[in-house]
Amino acid sequence: MKSTLLELRDVRFRWPGAASWTLHIPALALAAGERVFLHGPSGSGKSTLLSLIGGVLTPQQGHIRWQGQDLAAMTPSARDRFRGEHMGFIFQQFNLLPWLSALDNVLLAVQWSPLRRARLNSARQDAEQLLKDLGITQAEWQRQAGQLSVGQQQRVAAARALLGQPDLIIADEPTSALDAQHQDRFVQVLDQACQARGSTLLFVSHDERLSRHFDRRVSLPELQGSLALQEQA
Ligand SMILES: Nc1ncnc2c1ncn2[C@@H]1O[C@H](COP(=O)(O)OP(=O)(O)O)[C@@H](O)[C@H]1O
Ligand SMILES: [Mg+2]
Repeated sequence: MKSTLLELRDVRFRWPGAASWTLHIPALALAAGERVFLHGPSGSGKSTLLSLIGGVLTPQQGHIRWQGQDLAAMTPSARDRFRGEHMGFIFQQFNLLPWLSALDNVLLAVQWSPLRRARLNSARQDAEQLLKDLGITQAEWQRQAGQLSVGQQQRVAAARALLGQPDLIIADEPTSALDAQHQDRFVQVLDQACQARGSTLLFVSHDERLSRHFDRRVSLPELQGSLALQEQA
């Protein structure tokens, strides 16, 4: 049986000033190595949930445990370190440094993550292999990221997230800027790269069409418990 990577128990989170809970997740677990599609309409709390899982936000109630370790119990700097070592993020807007080469953007991933760096044979070789696997040709490795197409930039962002085999790849609507054909192709290459490296993938989208590529699909609205604020007591 697969081991549990991450477990949420009775997690409640409310943005400051909000009239009710933004999220109430009675239970959610991710197994090591599985590839999960999380969907829900815009504004349903998908990005908020990812920030909780990543320890960027801390829940007002409940627990988020990574292989038994509670993120909320860590100091903020320990949480930042933990995030850098164990998670790779892919965002809708890529967040690449446009003046750096594609290759240097990928290498940045492990600059401050000694555990991830220690897993690499040679950071440069592994980064090049990832770019290759994700369909970025050698001619593009030294080009400035800002000069690449949108689809290429998203693959560079995926390579950066994957370098050094973090336990979890978190992808927040990473295909929204791509056209339909490139969306499917991107999900396929990302999925293959995660499988080959044993990284768990949590992929978020409002576009349910993409769910067919995944082991499991989770609906955020169905996952939610009661959001009424009086349950706070
Ligand atoms: N930084 C923030 N401050 C206050 N409220 C926020 C913030 N980010 C998101 N929200 C609110 O939290 C709810 C969920 O938003 P979000 O997690 O971004 O949903 P999704 O990613 O599914 O579109 C929305 O009602 C949104 O307005
Ligand atoms: Mg979002």
